[in-house]
Parts: sequence; C-alpha cells; structure tokens
Amino acid sequence: MKILIACYSRTGFTEKLAERISQELKSRGHIVKKDRIDVVNRKSCWNLLFRQIYQYPLVGLALISSSFCHWWLKSYHQPEEDIQLHDYSDVSGFDHVCIGGPKWCYTSYPIARYLKQINGLEHKPVSAFATFGGPPLKVFELELIFTPMNRQIQKSGGKLVFTLGVSSNYHELHLIWIFRLVSWIIFRRSLKSFTVDSDYGKQKLKAFCDKIEQENVSVIKID
Ligand SMILES: Cc1cc2nc3c(=O)[nH]c(=O)nc-3n(C[C@H](O)[C@H](O)[C@H](O)COP(=O)(O)O)c2cc1C
Repeated sequence: MKILIACYSRTGFTEKLAERISQELKSRGHIVKKDRIDVVNRKSCWNLLFRQIYQYPLVGLALISSSFCHWWLKSYHQPEEDIQLHDYSDVSGFDHVCIGGPKWCYTSYPIARYLKQINGLEHKPVSAFATFGGPPLKVFELELIFTPMNRQIQKSGGKLVFTLGVSSNYHELHLIWIFRLVSWIIFRRSLKSFTVDSDYGKQKLKAFCDKIEQENVSVIKID
C-alpha cells in the first residue's frame, strides 16, 4: 500500500510517534511518505491557550454530562492557524492517509486548518493519531480530540477507520504534575507507562498498523 503520514508537531512528541508509525509500516513492506505540517507564525503557548480558554468551563461540564459532551463537541468553536505550503496538498494518489497532531484541548489549530484545505480525501480510509500530556482518559483525552477530528475528516470526504493516542508525558503549560497525579489516581500507573516507548504504546502502535493493513474496516473505533 502507498501510505501518507501527515503530521504537525510543535514540541516533537507527535513527530516521534509519526516516525515510529512510519518505521513500522515500512518494515511491513508499505511505501510510506511523510508530510510535515508547519505553521506560518509560531506563537507562544500562552497565546494558543488564551485563544480558547473561554471555552474551558464548558469542557468541564462536558466531562460531567455525556449528552452535553455530545452536543458540545458538535458546537464548540475550533480555532485554526495558517499553515505553510507542504508536500502533498492532494492526497488522492495514496491508498491510506494517517493524520496526526498534538491535543490542544481538541484538534490542534494547524491540523484543523490542514483538514479543511486537504484535497483528494473523498472516500479515502484515514487513521488519526495524537499525543497529549495526560494519560489516555476516555473522554477528556481520547474523545475530545478524536471526535472532532472524525467530524473534520468526514467533512473533507474521508472515512476514519482507527485512532491512536498516547501520552507524551509533557505539557508546555507546566501542567504535567496534574496529569501525573491523575494517572496514579485513576489508572494506578505512572504517566510514563502510557508513552510511545512503553509496552502500552508499542501494543497500541502495532494494533494501529494492523488496522491500517485491514482497509475493509468500516466501523469507527476510538481506542
Ligand atoms: C495550547 C495547548 C493546549 C493543550 N491541551 C492539552 C489537553 O487538553 N490535554 C493534554 O493532555 N495535553 C494538552 N496539551 C499538551 C500537548 O498535547 C502535549 O504536550 C503534546 O504531546 C505535544 O505534542 P507535540 O510535541 O507534537 O507538539 C496542550 C498543549 C498546548 C500548547
């Protein structure tokens, strides 16, 4: 198969995950091309935060009520950011497209713009991957990034077949100690045990690549 891995990474963690996916798929005999998404103007992390901080109280509400969460993920305002020209603006020549970026509460702003601009995604199987600071919390981490990404992929005509989310054990906004505590309280495991180099990460990466190879999968599974 000819596979494209398109990735935005601000501090290098999602790029590392993209590289691991690429190595694994190449080792299975696939042709893999990478497309690096980058922003036109790099802003401070505080600037990124303030662009959506006003929505955070409603994120809190979404964690308490699943029906509100369902509505909110369809209604929230998704910030976007200008991206530079990249290698593959038309992906129609690929059999499968993997798209990844960091979680910035929801989809990262450059990936939101990428998903709007991308051409040739119609009826294409797509897999989404992401890194986030925290442990793989079902709603706060996985649903908050992959549900909006799924909607944005569908709007561009693509079909999301699988997702992969791992922790980077890093947060630029100095909040990592909260996530380390949450990881111990909820999972009784260190945050490190959810990174790409952990057994968890390796197992998820293998399952992700297995799914990419089984293109006939039609059910979306957020995992
Ligand atoms: C503006 C902003 C918002 C973020 N929001 C979250 C979040 O909601 N949950 C989380 O676990 N990490 C969050 N993070 C941390 C990043 O998702 C995490 O560090 C990620 O692994 C960085 O990936 P990168 O190195 O590819 O840029 C946020 C970081 C920034 C800068």
